[in-house]
Amino acid sequence: MTNSPQHIKSLVSQYWSERAIDFDQGPTHGILNERQHQAWRGLLREVVGSEPVKALDVGCGTGFLAMLLGELGHTAVGVDLADDMLAKAQHKAATSAFDVTFCRGDAENPPRDGAPYDVIIERHVIWTLPQPQLAMQAWHALLKPGGRVILIEGIFDMPSHTDTIYTDIRTQLPFYGGHPSEALVACLESQGFVDMTVRPLMDAALWVEAPQRPRFMVTGTRPGGTPASIPIPSRSMS
Ligand SMILES: C[S@@+](CC[C@H](N)C(=O)[O-])C[C@H]1O[C@@H](n2cnc3c(N)ncnc32)[C@H](O)[C@@H]1O
Repeated sequence: MTNSPQHIKSLVSQYWSERAIDFDQGPTHGILNERQHQAWRGLLREVVGSEPVKALDVGCGTGFLAMLLGELGHTAVGVDLADDMLAKAQHKAATSAFDVTFCRGDAENPPRDGAPYDVIIERHVIWTLPQPQLAMQAWHALLKPGGRVILIEGIFDMPSHTDTIYTDIRTQLPFYGGHPSEALVACLESQGFVDMTVRPLMDAALWVEAPQRPRFMVTGTRPGGTPASIPIPSRSMS
């Protein structure tokens, strides 16, 4: 059976709302120790820079990236469709002093009210979108000229998705299970992004233990300007 993108998204958001209660306890989801905290802080500081930027975290879940960006002095907005994930994120923002807000929004068509952004970032979301290319097109449109898209992705084992909604919809998710970095580069380039970089994220500190499957970061730039605050890493396509 073919489901509409809207129906797929409603099933996906229901699934992640049900995962919200203990989502942060997973080593690839939350922050379990100070070493991991510092590893992510260091990575984001290096990639986003230290000058304050305005960032959008699409598919923010319980707010992992947006909260770290807030902690680093940036202004961050997180959007997600799963109400229970959002509630966790909103609680974190409300009990912090960071400039971070969370609201309901579709990663494939994020709200335009905060745009344009210096940075649009996501972690582990692309694989569960029914129209990932449409999402990349929307992100391009919401970035400032010279703004950057940052994808934190990987190739995943999906055994925990047996007997879940993903059994029925996986064939309608083009990047289900993860999409190779070089393929993500090609997708972003086809949407007009330039200056692509790929960086392996295999440091055990980021995930508490060394990952068994590829983890990486892909970045691209919307052409037309270079905001001084955002460091452009040297081109690396390993
Ligand atoms: C694996 S979780 C990752 C959460 C977070 N980015 C992180 O790294 O912890 C995937 C998240 O994407 C969200 N998501 C999936 N499809 C979405 C969509 N179309 N719009 C907004 N959020 C979406 C889910 O609700 C879930 O919170």
